[in-house]
Amino acid sequence: MVSIIDVHFEHYQSGNTVGIHETKPRLSWKFSNAPDGFQQAGYEIELSEENILSHDIKPKSFKCTSTNSILVTWPQDQPLISRQRISVRVKAWDSNGNTTSWSDPACLEVGLLHRADWQCDRIAAPWGPGTLEPDPEQLYRKGFVLDESTIQARLYITAQGVYEAELNGHRIGDHFLSPGWTAYDGRLQYQTYDVTGMLSKGSNCLGVRVAEGWFSGRIGFAGGHRNIWGPHTAMMAQLEILYPSGETKTILSDGSWTVKKGPIVMAEIYDGEKYDATQEIPGWSEPSQSGHLDSDWQHVLLFPPLPDSTELTAGFSEPVRRIEAIKPIDKITSPSGKSIIDFGQNLVGYVRLSNIKGPRGHEITLHHAEVLENEELGIRPLRICKAMDRYTLSGLGETEKYEPRFTFHGFRYVQIDGWSSDRDLVDSVEAVVCHTDMKSAGSFSCSDPLLNKLYSNVVWGMRGNFLSVPTDCPQRDERLGYSGDIALFAPTATLIYDCFNMLKNWLVDVEHDQRVLGGVPAMVTPNAMLPDPVWCRRKPCAIWHDVTVLLPWTLYEETGDASILAQQYNSMTTWMSVIPKNYSGRGHLWDNSIYQLGDWLDPAAPTDAPQKGVTDAKMVANAFLIHSLDLMIRIAGILGKTSDQANYDAETQAARREFQDEYVTRNGRLVSDSQTAYALAICFDLLTPAQRARAGSRLVELVRKNEFKIGTGFAGTPYITEALVLTGHIQVAYSMLLEKKCPSWLYPVTMCATTVWERWDSMLPDGSINPGEMTSFNHYAFGAIAKFLYERVAGLQRLEPGWKRFRFAPAVGAEFTHASASHVTSYGKISCSWTTSEVGSEPCTMKLLVSVPYGTSCVVVMPDGDGKKSESVGPGDWSFETSFKKNYEWPVLALGPKT
Ligand code: BGC
Repeated sequence: MVSIIDVHFEHYQSGNTVGIHETKPRLSWKFSNAPDGFQQAGYEIELSEENILSHDIKPKSFKCTSTNSILVTWPQDQPLISRQRISVRVKAWDSNGNTTSWSDPACLEVGLLHRADWQCDRIAAPWGPGTLEPDPEQLYRKGFVLDESTIQARLYITAQGVYEAELNGHRIGDHFLSPGWTAYDGRLQYQTYDVTGMLSKGSNCLGVRVAEGWFSGRIGFAGGHRNIWGPHTAMMAQLEILYPSGETKTILSDGSWTVKKGPIVMAEIYDGEKYDATQEIPGWSEPSQSGHLDSDWQHVLLFPPLPDSTELTAGFSEPVRRIEAIKPIDKITSPSGKSIIDFGQNLVGYVRLSNIKGPRGHEITLHHAEVLENEELGIRPLRICKAMDRYTLSGLGETEKYEPRFTFHGFRYVQIDGWSSDRDLVDSVEAVVCHTDMKSAGSFSCSDPLLNKLYSNVVWGMRGNFLSVPTDCPQRDERLGYSGDIALFAPTATLIYDCFNMLKNWLVDVEHDQRVLGGVPAMVTPNAMLPDPVWCRRKPCAIWHDVTVLLPWTLYEETGDASILAQQYNSMTTWMSVIPKNYSGRGHLWDNSIYQLGDWLDPAAPTDAPQKGVTDAKMVANAFLIHSLDLMIRIAGILGKTSDQANYDAETQAARREFQDEYVTRNGRLVSDSQTAYALAICFDLLTPAQRARAGSRLVELVRKNEFKIGTGFAGTPYITEALVLTGHIQVAYSMLLEKKCPSWLYPVTMCATTVWERWDSMLPDGSINPGEMTSFNHYAFGAIAKFLYERVAGLQRLEPGWKRFRFAPAVGAEFTHASASHVTSYGKISCSWTTSEVGSEPCTMKLLVSVPYGTSCVVVMPDGDGKKSESVGPGDWSFETSFKKNYEWPVLALGPKT
């Protein structure tokens, strides 16, 4: 029997809808067990106000004739108001009289929409800001008495810094590093927690620990700066309590709170955390019966309210959470006698220690690193970053436990010094993986185990760099929201995880930073370069700043939700209008005098100058300019901005002509005769059909001459294999994909990588670490290849934004005998897989399976004889079998003498 499942609001995961800011949230739902031919003809939405005090509020029902089940308009004209709680059920019917039953209810609670809803004060510790050295955490506490038991309680809370709150000795919620990282000068997020069950009649205590985090801790490029957004941490908390009588009570952060330095004597994102258990204050967040707790605490300082220019918002993103714990696979004693734990996976988070034993005051240190060099920790790539946690024992109790709260590290190995417990280290440590709690949205596997490992490395690379904001790397003294990295990786990221909300949230800050810099986006958002004299100001840069167009477009393509284009339209058009041009003779291309990062980290670039790739950086910039302009034509069209559309159209045509004049010969050779140049020119449609065919052949020559090794940096990598496919050379693309010599995608896999590296050779073949500055072992940019794995190896391709139509077109090749992929779309989960008999046996057979969710259709393209046959199918589970002739040579031969 057909039923409605997964009713949800906007792009929020169910469970993440307490305290949101939408007042007319759009609704979506999916169907389960829809019979063949079922098509929704209409739906009914029932809204029930959830008021814990009055049970007789009548639900309101709204009927609509519509086939739409995705992002349906909120049925009620009246917007929701602060604190309103609504539960929603949906039912639907088709034109044959099939009607679903009511769905399970989905609930939403609105947060505090207006500044006037906040009654509390912004409070801070009275001691002066320690601007040079990291400050210890601050413990804030407030005891209070409740006369009755409560039936509902909400804590609204934020900090300029990072916080964890406790009620009566228990941690509130499961967030990590809340309130998260935003452009704090423009936007500060708050969180809403349901704390109803944590309060009791009588004495209670609310405690909040606050550390510097990104707000005033050291952050930024080349070692970073302290106090970028303010010299002092601060906190705001508002606990709203409802009694059964209907009376309310609020506990507000105000001048009556007290504060004291806590046992976390230092907490830094880069350098790590130092916890001194001898300074613990037992029961600090519990009600104090004797009053002793309050006696040596200081009164807080009252800060002026947050300036009106700072938006206090719930944001959109899922919070960062502790996602899983990983046990070690080995304990190594290094040549210098150090104990090093190997977790078998380069990951991001921290190490949790238990069974700690030893005398009071004894210190245990944990040094983190991604790799070993000469069997010792390889810490040089961390640059100005200690990545060290320290724990000083209290010496109390049988054993002690420790896990850091306000820092994170990128590591596979941890060296533990000072372990004095009789319990084995291996039994006493685990690594806690932390990232933004996005829902997994995809899977891939195939008959080649090395490619499966590559895919796993891409997924781990994404997990490590989606921590509140999309970062470049998670381990050294950067971890910044570099715009170019995500602009290039996002089309892959959206296939792997549902990261729509996190990236939507980040884009709001991109626009903020752009506004501050007069229209040119920041290199990193939030703009941690602000105090830096070189990097802070307007430095227009192609690709990095094209994120304003590329990222919203990617999110639109994945979801079909044009509201993200509307949200970011001003940001995109502003960027397009401030790109410096008017260089003589080419008025529609980039001003040639502007410094560009170009094909950053091209393997041929000198180790200490990643921008000096073989492809003309200005040509790369102009290729991306035209690509962005092409997207602007489409975006303006989708949003109905017809005059803008016409302007972008004219602009694009002129830029294309100038690109041809400047960089392309009549026969399709490019001025930069490089893999990246051809890849971009082909994928961005910068050539005539004849030139394109020639460019494809030339690209093949270059790739074969290079023995299938990769010759692209950040800019060319996402496009190189696709350019080969688009010009009819899939086997050459597969040859590149499967190459193991350095540089290649599989080289790191053969070097036992467990994440994607920043450089193709972050580790050199002799096991030493690349001497370059940019040598992270966890950068997602080169992982963009996973899109090709989905689309070509498995054959799953989106045909329409939002996946309403898609194609399953396996590209037979190499020695693949099997591949499968799945993707969770707004409509439901698509799964596809194919298996062949050994290619080469005559005739070859292929079995194909595909699950098509309700509301979508799929074109299945099967290899067939010398050509291809295709079939269109609607929702349901489908299987096909076909026989075909192998029509390619394998292996493809390299050109020239072997090296
Ligand atoms: C980052 C890169 C980034 C680049 C641009 C590096 O330090 O790690 O990923 O895009 O700088 O300047």
